[in-house]
Amino acid sequence: MITRRATLACLSLTLIDITKAQTPFVLKAQTGEISLLPAGKTPVWSFNGEVPGPLLRIKQGEKLAVRFENMLDKSASIHWHGVRLPNAMDGAVGLTQPPIKKGESFLYEFTPPDAGTFWYHPHVHGHTSELLDRGLYGVLIVEEKSPPPVDREFVVVLDDWSLTEKGEILESFHDKHDAAHAGRIGGLLTANNASPLNLSVRRNERLRVRFVNVATAKIFWLKFQQMKPVMIAFDGQPSEPITLKDEQIVLAPGQRADLIFDITHGIDEIRTISAFDGRESKPIMLLTASKDEPVREKALQEVKPLPDNPLPKEINLAKAKRFEMILDGGMKPEAMHHHAHWTINGTATHDHGFKPFFKVKKGDVVLITIKNNSAFPHNIHIHGHHFRLLDGMDDGWKPYWLDSVLTLPREISRIAFVADNPGKWMLHCHMIEHQESGMMTWFEVV
Ligand code: C2O
Ligand code: CU
Repeated sequence: MITRRATLACLSLTLIDITKAQTPFVLKAQTGEISLLPAGKTPVWSFNGEVPGPLLRIKQGEKLAVRFENMLDKSASIHWHGVRLPNAMDGAVGLTQPPIKKGESFLYEFTPPDAGTFWYHPHVHGHTSELLDRGLYGVLIVEEKSPPPVDREFVVVLDDWSLTEKGEILESFHDKHDAAHAGRIGGLLTANNASPLNLSVRRNERLRVRFVNVATAKIFWLKFQQMKPVMIAFDGQPSEPITLKDEQIVLAPGQRADLIFDITHGIDEIRTISAFDGRESKPIMLLTASKDEPVREKALQEVKPLPDNPLPKEINLAKAKRFEMILDGGMKPEAMHHHAHWTINGTATHDHGFKPFFKVKKGDVVLITIKNNSAFPHNIHIHGHHFRLLDGMDDGWKPYWLDSVLTLPREISRIAFVADNPGKWMLHCHMIEHQESGMMTWFEVV
């Protein structure tokens, strides 16, 4: 039996069981080096010298205590993406905390209410894109009190890299062309820094794979060859178990999906997971069935739902406060002229010294209609809350929760949530180059 520790080691992710670690656990932003290309090492910025940073794992109901120390010349912070935490711990520089400069530190302490797959990254307007693209990110898992039985679990961190031939990260972080188009998209796609990632699987075993898209702009459109994964969670929250239509799933920047795989292929057979970019598919994971004895006689069939998280049972849309978000900009001449490429309701935002987009009372229901009038997709992310995606025809909603929603050009998404978490919360496109060129705002819950 392979232990979880061994499994993760082979994926070159270090597992930290934070409850057994010294409290608080220290995450240090520092320089480092990783191997992405055979041609040479890639100098990176990292948490504790690792990319992805240490895999933090706690149980639901346990406290997370992390002291962030910054050793880099750039200021930074840690935002806990998808965690419904107290506002002061949100890590949004300029809105919830000051920047942490070189030599400074900040203590993050909170008890995440939800079990699920989350991640962490700096959130400093003006250089989030550079910080993320140089490697500052990691995964936080909050384990269910009684996790569903699986044989093994994997965390797969998806990223894209813009590299020179020697393997150095291209320093074109503020490229205006990238910002005005789809964002900074790298040619090298990796899963846990490998391209592709090779996994040896056993016949008839059941895997839980937690996919996390940490890219600043790349949408991972995953295709599963001859496999029928079942989604049990999205964006960190349990979903109704869904057998993915057409064996594919789309993960926009920042999004996560927990998928159950029941391995049904024979010895030495390979199943490919690839990333499709509209034209071609690039293999990013290969699952090879080993010669080992099958784990059981027949692969399991039924997938049970995860236990519920403490999310609102009801969202009374009749009482909702309604808002509209018009997304626009890009190559349009007005936008280019002002170096403000992307707008929400006509405004491009470059700092937080502005009025909130809206202010609501704790417990209010918020319904936002997001209209994408531009020629590029946008992935609007909301801090501190999870929301429902409403159906276009009626007000029913999808059987999952989201913390960001991908809206394609000329399309409309309608989302609803209970504003139950007091504070000042960011609302922005998680294509970070879009956020940094204007597509962000915030709201307040009082
Ligand atoms: Cu993943 Cu505002 O962030
Ligand atoms: Cu965008």
